[in-house]
Amino acid sequence: MQLEAQFSRAFGFAGAVAVGFGRAALAVALRAVAPEGRGERVLVPDFICSQVLEAVRQANATPAFFPVRRDLTVDVDAFRAALDGPVRAAVVVHYFGRVQPDVAVLAEMCRQHGVPMIEDCAMALGAHHRGRPAGRFADVAVFSLTKSDWCYGGGIIATNSPEIWFQLQERAAQLHRDDRLCFSYGVLRWLDWLGNRRPYAWFAETVGRWLERRWFAETENFFEAGRCDVVMSRFAAPRALTILLRLDEVARRRSALLAQLRTELAEAADLLWPPIQLEAEADSAAFVLLRVPDAMRWRERAAAAGVTLRLCWPAYQPLEPAQRSAVMDWIAQHLLFMEVHPRLSTREVRHAANVLRTLRREAGCGWRLASGNGFWPGRICHRDGKL
Ligand SMILES: Cc1ncc(COP(=O)(O)O)c(C=O)c1O
Repeated sequence: MQLEAQFSRAFGFAGAVAVGFGRAALAVALRAVAPEGRGERVLVPDFICSQVLEAVRQANATPAFFPVRRDLTVDVDAFRAALDGPVRAAVVVHYFGRVQPDVAVLAEMCRQHGVPMIEDCAMALGAHHRGRPAGRFADVAVFSLTKSDWCYGGGIIATNSPEIWFQLQERAAQLHRDDRLCFSYGVLRWLDWLGNRRPYAWFAETVGRWLERRWFAETENFFEAGRCDVVMSRFAAPRALTILLRLDEVARRRSALLAQLRTELAEAADLLWPPIQLEAEADSAAFVLLRVPDAMRWRERAAAAGVTLRLCWPAYQPLEPAQRSAVMDWIAQHLLFMEVHPRLSTREVRHAANVLRTLRREAGCGWRLASGNGFWPGRICHRDGKL
């Protein structure tokens, strides 16, 4: 497939395999690098979406959680401790377009323990760390094509090892075709993606909700309807190739938009999370993370002003008992993200910054100490995090 060859060439992999969704990519990768004889436990971060847990279970494994800090980096010592005992594989996730700063250390630890590591680059397509592309640190990497852009589903598994590549192809050959699912998923993700732009937000939300009820009545939302056992649809491949070929141009555009947003946020730039100067290569990420006093209410207020902010997983997905922690509660209550649509105009960015500045001003100086309760009277808003 042209897409797979182009993907390998673009990021320097030995080979890549395209599948129906990012979750299918993960399930296939696990079956290929972590056969069942190696025990049951697959290490996954506690800050994770239910789709990843579903993929782990589809590969007949059991998730075992290791902790992530508030700034969404992996705690290296806790990761080392989790590697003790029988472990079938470890999944390390690059959140919101930023590569884990200690990814090389984590990969080396896994190598020393003989544990295959999978880099989950679902949200980090095109991201780099110290000049190296996301996905090139571990044995195998998985990508999703519906996170930083829209596509008819789409996942890619890539590796540096010709042997693993062969295994991946064998496993992927066992998936089946469901073009109808991929088409409806793609249309809904297109609307969801369009909803990041103020002029289209109302239209995208209204039509999207209506189609979602018709097409995906059995699931909570279309996003959950993606599957772990589906091949890439025929119409997804050309769209995925377009995303790939435009990646550099889109990264440049995002970099300019993010620079504008930072400038226009002015005194409200302290909302940006994590509160460190990002390396230049992370500053073209497809997502902006915000730390706010009350995520639910900020999302509602921003939506009323035409700005789409999204909740993080712990705020809307049920956590497994072993996942629950004070950090997960904090993330649920305080973190929001915004997708950076590359077609945002200068005016739209200015508007988003204005809305955030207003909310920041209303929150006052002491908001960091505030519990986050009792800010504004609520207006019900139905948009959720999706990703
Ligand atoms: C970190 C992460 N990995 C994998 C996936 C699965 O990707 P997809 O939605 O393409 O199945 C998701 C989203 O569900 C994700 O957020």
